[in-house]
Amino acid sequence: MSKLAILGGEKTRQKPFSPWPLYTEKDKNRLLEVLESRNWGGFPFPNRFASEFAQKFTDYHGAKYGCTLVNGTVALTVALRAAGARFGDEVIVPSYTWDGTATAVLDAGGVPIFADIDPDTYCLDIEDVRRRITPRTRAVMPVHLAMRFADMDALLDLAREKDLIVIEDCAHVHGGFYKGRGAGSIGDVGSFSMQTSKLMTSGEGGIVITSRLDCYEMIQSLVNCGRASATDQFGKRPTGCNYRLSEFQAAILLGQLETLPDLTERRIRNARRLSEALAQIPGVRPLPAQNALTTEAVYCYVFQYRPTEPPSAAPVRRDMFVAALDAEGVPADGRFYEPVYRSDLFHASPDDFPQLALHRDQPINYREFSCPVAERAAYDESVWLPQFVLLGDESDVDDVARAIEKVARNLADLETADPKLAALKSMSRAERPRIEKKNY
Ligand SMILES: Cc1ncc(COP(=O)(O)O)c(C=O)c1O
Repeated sequence: MSKLAILGGEKTRQKPFSPWPLYTEKDKNRLLEVLESRNWGGFPFPNRFASEFAQKFTDYHGAKYGCTLVNGTVALTVALRAAGARFGDEVIVPSYTWDGTATAVLDAGGVPIFADIDPDTYCLDIEDVRRRITPRTRAVMPVHLAMRFADMDALLDLAREKDLIVIEDCAHVHGGFYKGRGAGSIGDVGSFSMQTSKLMTSGEGGIVITSRLDCYEMIQSLVNCGRASATDQFGKRPTGCNYRLSEFQAAILLGQLETLPDLTERRIRNARRLSEALAQIPGVRPLPAQNALTTEAVYCYVFQYRPTEPPSAAPVRRDMFVAALDAEGVPADGRFYEPVYRSDLFHASPDDFPQLALHRDQPINYREFSCPVAERAAYDESVWLPQFVLLGDESDVDDVARAIEKVARNLADLETADPKLAALKSMSRAERPRIEKKNY
C-alpha cells in the first residue's frame, strides 16, 4: 500500500465531501416570506412558523407537545425545570457527552452526577446509574449518541422504581426511533439542539417535546418570560426568560424537517456499507448493531480503534491514527468528547454554583469521579466521522473505508512518527476553536 499522506504520501480522498448544512429553493422562498412579512421574532408566542414547525416535529417523533427555543443547552435547563427538578437535586448524566449536558443541570440549580457508559453503545450504563442513585437523586438524563440509544427499557424501569424524572438529551438523534418510539418521546421530556453541526439545523436553535401537559405549560412559560401558556390548566407561574426562537430560524427548520427522512435513509445506508467494510479491517471495530433501534440516527459515524495485532511495544496512539486519517482527506476526530468531569470547559465550583455544597460536609469534588469506559472511549478508542461524509454515494463511502484501511495497515509506519503530527487531535475542546475552522 502507498505511503501514508501524513508522512508525505498521496491522499486517499482528493475531493471534499458533501457541504453542510444543506438547503433548497423552498428554504430561500420561506426566508423571503418571513423577511417580507416583517414578523421576524418569536413574539407573539408561539409565532407562525415556530408553531407549525413545533407541531410537525413533535408529530414526527410521536410526542404530544413541542416548543422551540434558542438552543439545545437552554432546552435541557428548561426541560429539567419544567419536569420538576429543584435547587440541589442530583441529576445523573453520562460522563461521555458534550459539556452542555452537565452545565444545563448546573444552570437549572441541580448537581450533575456522572455515570459511566456502556462499552458497546457509548451511551449511559444503566447499572452504573443505579449505583450512583442517592436519596437526593431527582432525574436522569440519558444522551443518545454514537448512532445508538441508551437502554431506555432498563432506564424507564429504574426510573419507575426510584421515582426519577427522565429527560432525554437528543442532540444527536433527530429522526431516530427506539423500538418504534421516537427520540425524545420516551422519557418525560426530550430535548434537541439545532446547532450548525446537528442533523437538523437553523444555525442555532432547539426544541423540547413532551406528552405531559403540565411540563408543556411550564416550558412555554419559561421560554416566554413567565407568561401563562395558552392552555394554563395547571396555573403555574415560574420566573422565565426570553428564550424564543426567531421566525427566520423556524422557517429554516421546516425545510430541514422535510429533508430529514431522505437524509436519514441515505446516512443509514452508507453507515451500513462502511460498517461492513470496517469489519474486514484489522485494528478497528464498528460499534455492534443495537437491535432495539427501529431507525438509526447517524449524527457522527463512530467506530473503535483497537490496535491489537500485531502487538507492539509502543502502540500508535488513537490521536495519531485519527491525524493520519484526517491527512488522508477524511475528516476525523478522536477526542470529540472528554469525560465532562475532566473537561477544561467544565468549571463547576461552589462559588458559582452553591448547590454543589448544599447539605454536604464537603462540596462535590469532580476530580474524584472515575468512569473508566468513558475515559477509554475519550482518550484511546473512539473515532468520530462527521455525518456529512455519509451524504454521498457508495464511491464516497468506499473512499472512507480505503483511507481507514490504509492507515490501519500501515500503523507500523506511524510508530516512530513525530508526536507533533497528532498535536491538534490531542488538544482539549477549550483550546481547539482557536485553530480549527469546523465546530462539529
Ligand atoms: C449531547 C449534546 N447535548 C447538548 C448540546 C447543546 O446544544 P446547543 O449547542 O444547541 O446549546 C449539544 C450540542 O452541541 C450536544 O451535542
